[in-house]
Amino acid sequence: MQNGILILDFGSQYNQLIGRRIREMEVYSEIIPFNTPLSEILEKKPAGIILSGGPSSVNSETANLVSKELLESGIPILGICYGMQLITHLFGGKVSRGTKGEYGKAELEITKNCPLFAGVSNNSVVWMSHFDEVESVPENFDINAKSGVIAAISNLEKNIYGIQFHPEVTHTEEGGKMLSNFVFNICKAEKNWFLTNYIEKTIAEIKEKVGSQKVILGLSGGVDSSVAAVLIHRAIGKQLTCIFVDTGLLRKDEDKKVMKNYGEHFDLNIKLIDASERFMKKLENVSEPEAKRKAIGNEFVAVFDEESHKIEGAKFLAQGTIYPDVIESQSVKGPSAVIKSHHNVGGLPEEMGFELLEPLRELFKDEVRKVGEELGIPHHLVYRHPFPGPGLGIRILGAVDAEKVKILQEADDIFIEELYKNDLYEKVSQAFVVLLPVKSVGVMGDERTYEYTAVVRSANTIDFMTATWSRLPYDFLDLISSRIINEVRGINRVAYDISSKPPATIEWE
Ligand code: XMP
Repeated sequence: MQNGILILDFGSQYNQLIGRRIREMEVYSEIIPFNTPLSEILEKKPAGIILSGGPSSVNSETANLVSKELLESGIPILGICYGMQLITHLFGGKVSRGTKGEYGKAELEITKNCPLFAGVSNNSVVWMSHFDEVESVPENFDINAKSGVIAAISNLEKNIYGIQFHPEVTHTEEGGKMLSNFVFNICKAEKNWFLTNYIEKTIAEIKEKVGSQKVILGLSGGVDSSVAAVLIHRAIGKQLTCIFVDTGLLRKDEDKKVMKNYGEHFDLNIKLIDASERFMKKLENVSEPEAKRKAIGNEFVAVFDEESHKIEGAKFLAQGTIYPDVIESQSVKGPSAVIKSHHNVGGLPEEMGFELLEPLRELFKDEVRKVGEELGIPHHLVYRHPFPGPGLGIRILGAVDAEKVKILQEADDIFIEELYKNDLYEKVSQAFVVLLPVKSVGVMGDERTYEYTAVVRSANTIDFMTATWSRLPYDFLDLISSRIINEVRGINRVAYDISSKPPATIEWE
């Protein structure tokens, strides 16, 4: 892994953030499950290892542990939160259940300096999220900092450090400095992660792998599949055919936009399949959310399967799989069960008989965006909000029909257009309109109206696992409400969704 930093995943929601922070320093990072065999970890020859946070307790019988041999291997180690408790536990210190835990901001006081804190001020704010705490440190370990609890420990001889707080979140004022101390001063990692090199290397790999064969790709208009398509096109040109399935559940004019932005502008070979009628048929009278998701997912696979086999001699199926997809598929799952069955346009079944080509597999989303911009895709396209595979099908509550789709497309388009105009689009993470099958009475001119209710939803989030509702200005909400009610026939009432996730989710179904 070219002198990079290995992150052992114990299930913390912040793991991907740690990985990104390190890559922002132009150092390669990789996230692997904590129970990866020791030999495999050592084979990677990392410059340093980070033990992540995680939901379990080191004192529990089912605790997620690593072998002490790993910690004794001489590779510099940084334990964060659970990682620090694990170091304490393995070296004979004591971890106990605190009385109330610490969540949120805390004052850190450095009591004994160490290389991790070089150049860090003695008092600063850090972000805590833990219940267990280190009660007594192992022999030969120092206490380096305190908050309400023991907040940092180290054994300089072994090159092992532990911190109770999260340096990767922006609330930890000096977190960046601490991570950079670990990466450069302690691990002596090299800067060798540059996206321009990644593009060149990947293009060469695609050429080598594909040779003169044909490749197909399911283009959705979203960031990942579009960047994958342009990158592959750069490598093999017209040997790539993109299949764009119009499910009839896309945003307004999405088909035309995709054909223009990618077909014309990038000269991609795109086969546009209008399958909207097929999808509408499958959705007739289906109102239960999971049933709708399954119907849309299955139909998508059926259409794609048919169309892909019409492309003679295609050997590879390209997908816009990105690094978080890879991590999530291998990661340590918390107790949370699957809440919604996700259908990804890229997520086609394996038995379709193609060899996979996944050129973005190693990249985080922000890196995919940078690659997209380097490839010449306009900024507004690579910074689009995510759009779910089942599309408007899960934003029209209850049964879906073509008329409701049209109403929702118009309302959603107004909202998105105004977000751009008012310079708010990139200040929120995901924004859209939901159509409720609920009619209410209103008055327009002198006439009574009896029409549907639209709900405007906008969420702010880093990882889409938790989210808060966007504090959009009242005047802006007022503008959206009057434009939607005045311009979209079929809607006479607009509400704003003020639910956070959890307990709500971002989408309504
Ligand atoms: P929820 O509603 O679970 O959504 O809070 C979290 C994020 O996932 C997106 N989402 C999907 N994306 N296929 C997708 O590709 C799906 O089936 C799907 N369902 C939800 C959602 O838009 C949000 O970004």
